[in-house]
Amino acid sequence: MSNGKTKRLGILTGGGDCPGLNAVIRAVAKSAMNEGGFEVIGIEDGFEGLVEGRMRHLRNQDVSGILTCGGTILGTSNKGDPWHYPVKGADGKVTIQDTSSQAMNHYREWGLDALITIGGDGTMTISSKLMELGANIVGVPKTIDNDLAATDLTFGHDSAVYVATEAIDRLHTTASSHHRVMIIELMGRYAGWIALSAGLAGGADVILIPEIPFQWDHVYHRLIERSRYGKRFSIICVAEGARCPDCGEIVKAYDQKRTDAKQLGGVGEYVAKQITENTELESRVTVLGHLQRGGSPTPFDRILATGFGVAACWLAMKGKFGQMVALHGNKVEAVPIKDAIAHLKLVTPQTQKVLAARSVGTSFGDA
Ligand code: F6P
Repeated sequence: MSNGKTKRLGILTGGGDCPGLNAVIRAVAKSAMNEGGFEVIGIEDGFEGLVEGRMRHLRNQDVSGILTCGGTILGTSNKGDPWHYPVKGADGKVTIQDTSSQAMNHYREWGLDALITIGGDGTMTISSKLMELGANIVGVPKTIDNDLAATDLTFGHDSAVYVATEAIDRLHTTASSHHRVMIIELMGRYAGWIALSAGLAGGADVILIPEIPFQWDHVYHRLIERSRYGKRFSIICVAEGARCPDCGEIVKAYDQKRTDAKQLGGVGEYVAKQITENTELESRVTVLGHLQRGGSPTPFDRILATGFGVAACWLAMKGKFGQMVALHGNKVEAVPIKDAIAHLKLVTPQTQKVLAARSVGTSFGDA
């Protein structure tokens, strides 16, 4: 790492943003400067900045005062996969090209000794491929979805659950006043963690998630049963990736430039339509969307993000590359990046939160 020159640590944030990114950037940069004597190079807009050579020196004052700020001071992108990069030709036509050697050239030209990549499964997959080309990488697990394997939690998830829970609480009061079924569609991609946790915290009557197949009759039965014993309103918490028995996963749009081409969305409206057509109950839909990704991180996420950032910096200082920091119980540890991308971490029917929800009478629409 030394080569007789000042050591240089690059840092980037990849994929969708979430609360806590700035807390990690601050923790990495401060500990790298304070303890490692590193120069810190911020890469703009995730891997896009590495491909295009858009990088800048980060000084102490650049990372000061950002702990509580949402978003990322570096910018991010979910269209920056160097092996699948949109390039505009002279004729204005966009083609998808392999720009990985360009990315590695910029890594070397900027004299990076190591790179901290903060992101989810897409970012960790790209990190793993860049390591095969010679980059020294340490990963930090980020995503509101909490679907990254090999870590109990990703930072950003707690903040998203907090926002979603507050929304459910607010829906409760208007639902009960108007005797309606309120449906809230939450993010999470192919995993139901946000809907499950917020549904549990907000006391949802029905939770629909991708991992637990449901039947319409069971959903209607639960709503009608509630109105029979005097509860004239209900809350349904549905994950955007939930698969309806008749139409499966609902995709809002495809964009081949994205790391994951699918943009999920629309299941909330579909659930409402089914309820209107098949029961006498009145329903309304709220799609919480990017509110779940914006704003200040919760104290839990600030602490987790800071712990992750410092631990990632320590790994880089020790030359322990190819690792991702991870939370196990209440300890921050290191795991091979490969373990984090081996599979998505999904809810299982035996997950304690599912069992607890069932035990207090929440329906998953499966019985
Ligand atoms: O992965 C985070 C996430 O917010 C998912 O929950 C959601 O499906 C997706 O990103 C939305 O992506 P975009 O911001 O590109 O619409």
